[in-house]
Parts: sequence; C-alpha cells; structure tokens
Amino acid sequence: MTIILGLESSCDETAAAIVRSDRTVLSHALAGQEDHHRAFGGVVPEIAARAHSELMMPLVETALADAGMTLDDVDAIAATAGPGLIGGVMVGLVTAKALAMAAGKPLIAVNHLEGHALSPRLVDADLDFPYLLLLVSGGHCQLLRVNGVGYYDRLATTIDDAVGEAFDKTAKILGLGFPGGPAVERAAQNGDAKNVPLPRPLKGADEPHFSFAGLKSAVVRAHDTGQYRIEDIAASFQQAVVECLADRLTYTLDRIDPPGALVVAGGVAANMQIRGMLESLAEKRGMRFVAPPLWLCTDNGAMIAWAGAERFAAGHTDGLDFVARPRWPLDPDAAPARGAGVKA
Ligand code: KG4
Ligand code: ZN
Repeated sequence: MTIILGLESSCDETAAAIVRSDRTVLSHALAGQEDHHRAFGGVVPEIAARAHSELMMPLVETALADAGMTLDDVDAIAATAGPGLIGGVMVGLVTAKALAMAAGKPLIAVNHLEGHALSPRLVDADLDFPYLLLLVSGGHCQLLRVNGVGYYDRLATTIDDAVGEAFDKTAKILGLGFPGGPAVERAAQNGDAKNVPLPRPLKGADEPHFSFAGLKSAVVRAHDTGQYRIEDIAASFQQAVVECLADRLTYTLDRIDPPGALVVAGGVAANMQIRGMLESLAEKRGMRFVAPPLWLCTDNGAMIAWAGAERFAAGHTDGLDFVARPRWPLDPDAAPARGAGVKA
C-alpha cells in the first residue's frame, strides 16, 4: 500500500491532501480564494499566485497533522504541473519539488485534467477502464474515452468557451456574485426555465463538439432588455446548458460502441440538474452512471494525490527538472476542433 501527498494550485483553490492507494483519504486541506477575487468578479492570475504561495505550506502542514504523519511516512509527492494559471501551478510544483528533494521521495507531476478524470475511481472501486467521461470545469468541456492511466481519446471539446466559464460569466452578467456556478444553480431554483428564449448552440449539428459563447451573448441580450427576472434567466440558461450537453453526448453515443459507464467530473459536475440529466441518459443507454461526491468535483488535493497514486502504481515518477505547463492536453493526438481560442 502506498501513501501519496498531493498538492493542487492551478486555479483559485489551494489544496493539500494525503491519500492511500486503498482509496482511503487520510486528510484533505483546502483554502478557497473567493475573498481575494470577488471584487474583480473573476480569478486574477497574479493575485491567485500570491495567495497560493501564502497558503500552500500551512495547508501541507495541516494535511500532515490531520493524517498524524510526517513527510517520512509518505511514499511520493504529487502536484498539479499543468494545465492552469502558470503562476499558481509553479507554486505547487516547486513546493512539491522542494519537499521531494528534502525528504528524498519521488515527485509525480500530475496533469490537472487527469486528476479530474481519475477522481471517480477514488470513490468507486468498481469503476474499471475504459469509461466515457464528460469533463466539465471552469477551463474545459470535453468528452473523453478514458482507456487507462495516461491513455485518453478526446472525442469532443468546446469550440469556444468552457461550460464553467459560461456559468461564471452568466453569474457576473446577472449580478449573482462569484463563484458563478453555484450562484446560478441557486438562482435557477426560483426561476422558470421556459420564460426566457435562449439558443441551444450546435444542437443537432453534424459534429461532436460543444459551444457556449453564443449562449452567453444571448444571456447578455436577454438581461439588457430589462424584461426578465434574474431567476428566470438563470433557470433558462441552465436548461439550455443541460439540453446542449445532452444533445452533444447523444450525438457521440449514437456513433460509438459505448463503454459500460458514463462518468462526469470537474467543477460543473457539482450541478444537480446536469447530474440528473446524465443519470437518465446513462440509464436509457444501459450504462452505469458515476459521479464523484460534490467535494471531489471542484478542485481539491485528494484528486491530485489519487492521480499520483494511480501513476505511481503504473510506474510513473518525474524528475525534479519537470517544467510547469500552462497547456497540457490529455490527448495530444486529437485533431483540433474548428474555431479560434480552442481549449486544449
Ligand atoms: O474543476 P473546477 O473547480 O476548476 C477548474 O479546473 O476549472 O471548476 C470550477 C468551475 C467554475 O466555473 C464553477 O463556476 C463551476 O465549476 N461550478 C459549477 C457548480 N459548482 C462549480 N457550475 C455549475 N453548477 C455548480 N453547482
Ligand atoms: Zn479543475
């Protein structure tokens, strides 16, 4: 059995966690930075990097103390090495390198997206490869076939905005505050999804990809009319997202030999309406539906420690010269989706 310390700092969550290879989370410490970024209505990279450098070491100490351990007790040190806001990624990765060097332990450089992609296996011992993964976060919206640790086929991606980005921008337009996803979901509960006509970008299109930029612009126009309740716009937006995701997933499911499980991960996977839609879609297709608990959907250290454990078990460790990567696609061979500003 191995014990891995995992560090996360790619966006606005600073986190450290200790996970054992038998799927026990021994500790997980996390500090959000909402208060640092709220005034700007979004994450400011430079402010995030400074906050990570203040918060990271105390969180490592907390994670070790909560697990009743010292660095000597861990077998390897994992950290997000990309993709993400590069200043923050460098803080976590350099911290992990220093700890690894001081304690004489191996370093594991984890792709943040692989952290999300493998996180469902931390809580579901029966989730075997391959599985179909909808990865929906603040920076990404991808449909992947997860074949094994380090082996991914990207089947679809967004041609413009990530779905979490659309939630965050919608929240900002509607004055719902930051972070946006949970705020839109809360407002939507008191709204009527039929009241605001919004588009369903790429619905019915003969390609597998996603698009959310047009939906965001439509939210701006609807809000500008002054004609609709905020709650109704939020509910109509969320409904449009759910329908787009369902339509795009159905397109791919109709064209592949689907694996046994449909899995969702990433911050947007915390959305109950999206989870509900995916669950019924999976049921209709005779697939098992797996979604991590909410705390494991948004960025955290346990998913990085777990991805580290999976990589360690597969024999992967990295040199102390590993360079942080602002972009790091899970499937480097995937053909680029059309459109400018494509997210890797
Ligand atoms: O995975 P994550 O924590 O960070 C990235 O890797 O990007 O995802 C953050 C994203 C944000 O855009 C946030 O608004 C969204 O996940 N999010 C949600 C919900 N909770 C978080 N979106 C919709 N509904 C939610 N309940
Ligand atoms: Zn993330």
